[in-house]
Amino acid sequence: MAKQRTIFCCQQCGAQAPKWLGRCSECEAWNSYVEELAPEAVETIGIVSREGGAPVPLNEVPADTGAHRPIGLPELDRVLGGGTVPGSLTLLGGDPGIGKSTIILQALARIAGRDGPALYITGEESAAQVKMRADRLGIASDKLYLLTENQLPAVIGQIEALNPSVCAIDSIQTIYSSQITSAPGTVSQLREATAQLLALTKGTTMATFLIGHVTKDGMLAGPKVLEHMVDTVLYFEGERGHPFRLLRAVKNRFGSTNEIGVFEMTAQGLKEVANPSLLFLAERPEHAAGSVVVASLEGSRPVLVELQALVTSSGLANPRRTAIGVDSGRVALLVAVLEKVVGLTLHTQDIFLNVAGGLKINEPAVDLGVIAAIASSFHNRPIDPHTLIVGEVGLTGEVRAVMGVEGRLTEAAKMGFTRALVPKSHAKVKAPKGMELHGAPTVESALALLL
Ligand code: TYD
Ligand code: MG
Repeated sequence: MAKQRTIFCCQQCGAQAPKWLGRCSECEAWNSYVEELAPEAVETIGIVSREGGAPVPLNEVPADTGAHRPIGLPELDRVLGGGTVPGSLTLLGGDPGIGKSTIILQALARIAGRDGPALYITGEESAAQVKMRADRLGIASDKLYLLTENQLPAVIGQIEALNPSVCAIDSIQTIYSSQITSAPGTVSQLREATAQLLALTKGTTMATFLIGHVTKDGMLAGPKVLEHMVDTVLYFEGERGHPFRLLRAVKNRFGSTNEIGVFEMTAQGLKEVANPSLLFLAERPEHAAGSVVVASLEGSRPVLVELQALVTSSGLANPRRTAIGVDSGRVALLVAVLEKVVGLTLHTQDIFLNVAGGLKINEPAVDLGVIAAIASSFHNRPIDPHTLIVGEVGLTGEVRAVMGVEGRLTEAAKMGFTRALVPKSHAKVKAPKGMELHGAPTVESALALLL
């Protein structure tokens, strides 16, 4: 028998090379190449083609209206764009131990029995372990089925036999086909398993969830390979030691990708957090220098968060600049504005910036908040705890307009804020009841009002 040709395949991006490489020339990942069977041998196995046929006029194609089926967990439904979509494939990624299996089990228990049974397939845990978790979550449904299996043909066969309305595979990395010689979890195996599940899902009204692990450096193993095959990619994130968990859509063919869902991990599983502002402001020290409150627009929902800055004199030739939860390039820019325009001597200072509660903000609307927090810590002068700060800052120190300012102010008024510092161009907007607006044209005038 002829020796089967093998190639080396990057486990991060799927790039191929005839020889082993220490560093991928495509995605620059180190040590990511694994020997696999050459693709021409692989492609003859098991890829099922989608519905064929002649082209039809677009106007005659029936639209999928009202396709979303709500799960009944509003935070999860929001991120999905309204619920699960029949015939869709969703990838849920996240660090080990973050709560992926928990949230999927809770979601399946809600849906089970509504349009048919729900099927949870695990290749990682024993049936008894899943049962223990279900008991802990208070789940009891005779329409929720469990399968412990990691052979792809058996998984496909069982899904076809049960014909569930929703199915979850925990995790896609443990599912393998023995027709492919490379190890479980490699790109060839992932691609094959996902392709077969995709073909199966697209021909039915089933919604399929794939759970995927994230590697040490925060990448979904084989991410580029999987991300373009599925309809929706969700990331579950949070910090160890914090009970908060954020669910974020990074790709969504059926909704917006900006929405976040906020959960809290408790002894009885994940609880939804309907009012994230309350959570993120819960432990705020009032009247402490360096602490300010900003409003970040997460999808359609404004969320109030506390920003903290600590400015201390540095003994280092290159003082430290550490930013957690905000973009460090953006912070460097704002520090330069403070030096040049306001005249603060920051080049001798270490600057630490943190978003409380582990949230990550990448919105210019928090610029003015960053400026205020740094200046407040530098001068050691606290900022009024009932003041919200909103505004983008330009390189000359001008304060610029932001999107959705009314929503941010309304959220702040709801949380008991009585004053807001906004860009000059927004000073004319209708302030919510009980809130006073101050418009600032420049960073200097903003700091004069605050400190
Ligand atoms: P899990 O869903 O197994 O994470 P993943 O599938 O992402 O690896 O969740 C594991 C963690 O969650 C574990 O450290 C225990 C904790 N946990 C709770 O605190 N409460 C609960 O009710 C459950 C089920 C888990
Ligand atoms: Mg798990």
